[in-house]
Amino acid sequence: MKEGPISSSSNFNHVPVMGKEIIQSLKELPSELTKQGLIIDATIGGGGHSAQILENFPGIKIIGLDQDPMAREAASKKLIKFGTRIKIISTNFADFSLDEQAICVLADLGVSSHQLDEPSRGFSFRLNGPIDMRMNPKEGSSAAELIETLSEQNLADLIYELGEEKRSRRIARKIKNDLAENGPYSGTQDLSYAIAGCFPPKQRYGRIHPSTRTFQALRIAVNNELGSLESLLLKAPNWLLENGLFMVMSFHSLEDRRVKSSFKTDNRLKVLSKKPIRASPEEIELNPRSKSAKLRISAKKFLT
Ligand SMILES: C[S@@+](CC[C@H](N)C(=O)[O-])C[C@H]1O[C@@H](n2cnc3c(N)ncnc32)[C@H](O)[C@@H]1O
Repeated sequence: MKEGPISSSSNFNHVPVMGKEIIQSLKELPSELTKQGLIIDATIGGGGHSAQILENFPGIKIIGLDQDPMAREAASKKLIKFGTRIKIISTNFADFSLDEQAICVLADLGVSSHQLDEPSRGFSFRLNGPIDMRMNPKEGSSAAELIETLSEQNLADLIYELGEEKRSRRIARKIKNDLAENGPYSGTQDLSYAIAGCFPPKQRYGRIHPSTRTFQALRIAVNNELGSLESLLLKAPNWLLENGLFMVMSFHSLEDRRVKSSFKTDNRLKVLSKKPIRASPEEIELNPRSKSAKLRISAKKFLT
């Protein structure tokens, strides 16, 4: 994934991806649903998608979830003008439960540009920071702890499976040797430099930074992103009213494969997007992050 410009924690600069397509799908719902329905924005981030929805549908209320305190703070600020139409909850979407029923559940997976651009969060290999990568800084182990505790074999498997990185064995060996000989890395740039050294010089300066896949793997593992997604895919259909929409946007194939197969096999859902919806060339031009996005939409079936 490409990384954008540096932002401060008070300047949450995440640009919502495929906002138009999401609004258009909601417009196609029966008007009795959009006149006064509830939407669950499972990944509220900076509140970009929620703001677009609240602006377009004056009768809709949103419950927004995020496990990242900085995201919740940014979303609260952005959405304050919508008053009681927005409620923000601190939770992992995998742990959420809902008493009422919603007309839509939206999940825009992965990290926000803000998380990537804020060095102190440790997601970035270009900006130096602690090797952390936790979306919820109060939960679980940091990436530094993960590389320290995993065996070389398990670290290699993780980098291969979650980063789809062919050089996983070499990278794991280098990381474990460095840790044994020199102690912990000083920060994300130090780790990134070590990873880049596992590639032949020609590949160190290509379009994709050599650390991209390894950092992706560590981030997915630290946040148990695939486990949380599996829980959401199981739970969210139960939160929906008949015809309600389940929209999931993913940014890598490990997520998209799970969404595709779950939508297809879940007998509570009818698949509306046979092929994933992609960002338009105009949007990709304006926001390169949208290039890898795949949006899949299904609808809740009438169950007797
Ligand atoms: C791509 S951003 C969402 C951006 C948002 N749609 C917007 O327009 O501003 C993803 C957000 O989801 C949050 N997130 C990722 N996985 C989560 C989970 N399992 N539970 C709760 N929040 C999660 C991240 O902390 C991040 O803020």
